[in-house]
Amino acid sequence: MFRPGVVLLLAVAFAIASCSSSGEQPQPVERRCATGENLQMCGKNLVIAHRGGAKVWPEETLLAMQESVKLGVDVLEVDVHATKDGKVVCTHDDLIDRTTDGTGPIKEKTWAEVQLLDAGAKFTTDGGKTFPYKGKGIKMAALEELLRAFPQMPFSVEIKQVRPSIVDAVLAVIDASGMADKIVVASFDDDTLREVRTKRPNLATSLAGGEIVKLLQIKSEEDIGAYVPPAKLFQAPYEAITADRMKAYNKLGIRVHVWTVDDKEDQQRMWSLGVHGVMSDDPPLLKSVTPTDKGR
Ligand code: G3P
Ligand code: CA
Repeated sequence: MFRPGVVLLLAVAFAIASCSSSGEQPQPVERRCATGENLQMCGKNLVIAHRGGAKVWPEETLLAMQESVKLGVDVLEVDVHATKDGKVVCTHDDLIDRTTDGTGPIKEKTWAEVQLLDAGAKFTTDGGKTFPYKGKGIKMAALEELLRAFPQMPFSVEIKQVRPSIVDAVLAVIDASGMADKIVVASFDDDTLREVRTKRPNLATSLAGGEIVKLLQIKSEEDIGAYVPPAKLFQAPYEAITADRMKAYNKLGIRVHVWTVDDKEDQQRMWSLGVHGVMSDDPPLLKSVTPTDKGR
């Protein structure tokens, strides 16, 4: 069992400390998506609205997703927990304190209580001088609402709540949406993703925390050996990505989506390294530096 925060941070710190690169830029993998293929598993230059665009709009809300879709992003990224009566809700933290006018763990609230919260109350872009979305009726979103609102959009759904497991509840929402072929399920928790893969072998998943730690040991093509990736999508901390690692991942057929890249130079550097997707809290900025060929 891996504690994702701690283990991943250690692994990334180690990976960065031991970064080496030939300096030669990797060539992007020339591959086009087959008809009906999940864009996240084949596309390139994917603009991924992290939490819907947390720096620009109240995170994980319908409003953020609407603005990101209007902007023309390729993928919407959300994090999910469940209320005590089993509603799958889009929110990043265990607690509702940072993003709403309420307090306490989301898993101790009912869906009825959650719907009364102001999910725009804490959003600010000027260090707390103003709160432009406070009192404007912005609500937390249920996963099913977002999927229903954007049936054409690819989603990355990251399961944050580990205990009790909410895998069955999340899979029920995905099944009901009819959008399984557009969705990737992510989690840093190994047991959670193992449960997802066992229950829905055809659903695309990213690599879990322990799997990421193993993959980061591959620093170049020479390190591949007998390694077989347990999934073909690496949602990667961008600091760990080098030209040599990209060559190895391309050889293994692994798509690489980096997080969370909010600086323009870093975004440009990631595209020049040939990553397939970039997650950003600032989708307008990312879109402005992103090539338009999506590999479809
Ligand atoms: O899936 C990876 C990325 O979303 C991690 O960022 O904001 O969920 O901690 P965060
Ligand atoms: Ca996330």
